Amino acid sequence: MDVFTVTKEQIDSGTVGTRACEALEAGNIVVLPDNSLFDKQADIDFLLGLQQNASALHKNVAYKPAAHKVTGATTNTPQEADRLLEVMSGFSKRALALLGRVCPPYAGKWKTDYASYRPFEEQGRDLPLKQRNDLMHVDAFPSRPTRGGGILRLFTQINPNKDRVWRVSGPFEALADKYALQAGLREVKGGSAAMKRAAAKLGRAIGINVPDRTAYDQFMLGFHDFLKGNEEFQHGEQARQMNFRPNQVWMCYTDVLAHSVLSGQYALEQTVIVPPEAKVKPDIAPVSVLERIAGFPLTPAPRPALQPV
Ligand code: SIN
Ligand code: FE
Repeated sequence: MDVFTVTKEQIDSGTVGTRACEALEAGNIVVLPDNSLFDKQADIDFLLGLQQNASALHKNVAYKPAAHKVTGATTNTPQEADRLLEVMSGFSKRALALLGRVCPPYAGKWKTDYASYRPFEEQGRDLPLKQRNDLMHVDAFPSRPTRGGGILRLFTQINPNKDRVWRVSGPFEALADKYALQAGLREVKGGSAAMKRAAAKLGRAIGINVPDRTAYDQFMLGFHDFLKGNEEFQHGEQARQMNFRPNQVWMCYTDVLAHSVLSGQYALEQTVIVPPEAKVKPDIAPVSVLERIAGFPLTPAPRPALQPV
């Protein structure tokens, strides 16, 4: 894992080209120039001062751009709720604009996913194994299958006093070579189209959303859990510690780069899902790596369009 720095000059002059994408796809972290993703300091102070009560504990605040809606927040007044929506949507817009300038080959091709605000101290959080952020893992979303798309995230942290501390290792290909078969890659099944239609229909009838997972999504969810529970991987890997300073902005594919967060409070991120065919090097996308190891396709061809969230 390397750190790849993109300068303000490169961004402003539009000369980043494919370099940042290549670095990200290979499992590196791209560090961007410090850049406020907020309109004014008062917006940052508002987020830092937000009081999340016990019932919302363990939840991130999510902003869903397609619905222009915030979930997971405890706000005390309608005014506070409106302000939070405005601040989160402003962050999301700026983060997406920055992403487009750092990764020109992806612009217009990604699917915008959620943005989140992470207001809890990560050190010592008492969470069940699958949700623990302090165990090394690659990301997979239970409720939002990517159908082979990559999970690209732009992070910033607004804590004025304390670094956010990660451990990272990888890239995905090395992990997959070592663990994918042990984690059940050859046994994974996406389910037939008829079965999925029936499950989706049943889900709608009882008012729940049944995610339409491909074999790829199924495997990645299992791989996330497998890695978190694997002692050898947790302790044996050559992990590198990364400290992100207050106000720093960084990006990575969190399904390519194995990561854990050891400490830190008050981070935000914006996620986009990048289809493998939009990548500069689709051959090293996790879906391609896994299909090579499995020896069979893990997503239906042609890959259907992603549904808006
Ligand atoms: C994670 O994706 O595991 C957490 C990253 C973070 O919140 O810093
Ligand atoms: Fe993660």
